[in-house]
This record gives sequence, C-alpha cells and structure tokens, in this order.
Amino acid sequence: MELLKINKINKNYSSGEKTLNVLKNIDFSLNKGDFISMMGPSGSGKSTLLNIMGTMDFPTSGSISLFDNNLTELNENDLAEYRLKHFGFIYQFHYLLPEFTILENVAIPAMLLGKSKKESFKLANELLEYLKISERGHHYPAEVSGGEKQRAAIGRALINKPDILFADEPTGNLDYETGQTVLKLFQKIHQEFGQTLFIVTHDKEVSKIAKKRFSLINGILVVNK
Ligand SMILES: Nc1ncnc2c1ncn2[C@@H]1O[C@H](COP(=O)(O)OP(=O)(O)O)[C@@H](O)[C@H]1O
Ligand SMILES: [Mg+2]
Repeated sequence: MELLKINKINKNYSSGEKTLNVLKNIDFSLNKGDFISMMGPSGSGKSTLLNIMGTMDFPTSGSISLFDNNLTELNENDLAEYRLKHFGFIYQFHYLLPEFTILENVAIPAMLLGKSKKESFKLANELLEYLKISERGHHYPAEVSGGEKQRAAIGRALINKPDILFADEPTGNLDYETGQTVLKLFQKIHQEFGQTLFIVTHDKEVSKIAKKRFSLINGILVVNK
C-alpha cells in the first residue's frame, strides 16, 4: 500500500546570482512496511529531502502526498497535526526536553494528540519497557547515557504509532556499540510491528540495515541493486 508519494520534487537554494539545485526531480513512493535507507555524503541533500518528506520544509516544485492527500497544500496548523499523527522523527541529537523526565518526554506527543495523562503514561511505560529503559523513566535526560537518551527519543517518536518513522543520522552522535544497539532496535521494530522506516545517513554500514537502499548523488536519487 502506498503511504507517501514524492512527486517530482526539486529544491533550490539561491544566494546572490547562484542557484544551488540540491534535489533534482526526486520521484518515488514509500509503501507500508518499507524499510529504506538513503545514503549520500555530507551536503548531498539528505536532510533537505527528509525534511520535505516530513513536511518540515517545502519543495521549490513538486508535491508530497500522504494517503493521496496533497500535503503541500495544507497550512502550518494542519501540518503540525499531520506530523503528530502520522510521522515520527529521530535525529542525530535527541532533542529531549531537559525539564521533563524520560517518561514524560515519551508521553508528551500522546497528550498533544488529546490522550489522557493516564493513558499517555501507560503507553509511555510500555514503550520504556520495550526499549529496556523503564528503570530510567523517572530520571531527567541529563542523568542518563547517550544511548538511553536516543532510545527515549525513539520511544517519543513511536508513541503515536506513526505511519512512517524518519531517522536522520540516528547513530551520528553515538559510539559504535551504542549505535549498533540503536540499529538493532530499528530492525526489531520493523520486524515486530512492520514499522515503515526511512533512514538517511552518510554511513554505509548504517545504510546496510535497510531492506531497500537508495543513494543521493548530485541531487539525483539512485536505487541501489
Ligand atoms: N537553508 C539553506 N539555505 C541555503 N543552503 C542550504 C540550506 N539548507 C541546506 N543548504 C545546502 O543544501 C545542501 C544540502 O544540505 P543538507 O540537506 O543538509 O545535506 P546533508 O543532510 O546530506 O548533509 C548543502 O550544500 C547545504 O549547504
Ligand atoms: Mg544532514
């Protein structure tokens, strides 16, 4: 089943007389259950494409549709709700809120969607257990390790059962061992929940965990065999 359709996306940045054509006619579909990685060197436009797919940025031309709804036409309020319901995001840095506990950080997106505090905390607790960080739930982000923070960020991204989980260099800030734990977790949630995943990375080892592999070369998307 087609989830996200990326229709002939171009993205240009202009500075003075120069135009940088970062993305050139990117056109593909993300289907339910896909596990896709996109690899490219630093500056090749990976984050730009991921941000456009996640509606955090707009293309210069082309459009994005989710379940056949054209997202390029929605206003910022509708997009925020769309993201909260349908997408989860994981970045190189965890972006946990420092004044909230790990448990609260994971629960917040569910409360933002209108779930009760009780229900949100129940879901968050289940996720912490699944992610093997339940004993850290009442600690603040500053009190837990980098790997635990990233696992909490994964919990926060998963709590609303997103149609698509986006990850941008998810192991970029972790040591090798911790990075491996996080990659295994992605494989596990793909296998166990059929979670649709789209991961961008400059790291070939990371890109290998995916079932389908793309490369971004000079702004053009190449499907690896
Ligand atoms: N807001 C912006 N204004 C101008 N140029 C930008 C902007 N954002 C990104 N770029 C440029 O677009 C290119 C792709 O950036 P990015 O998507 O961050 O690459 P990657 O994630 O692959 O490292 C880079 O050359 C970067 O400098
Ligand atoms: Mg990037």
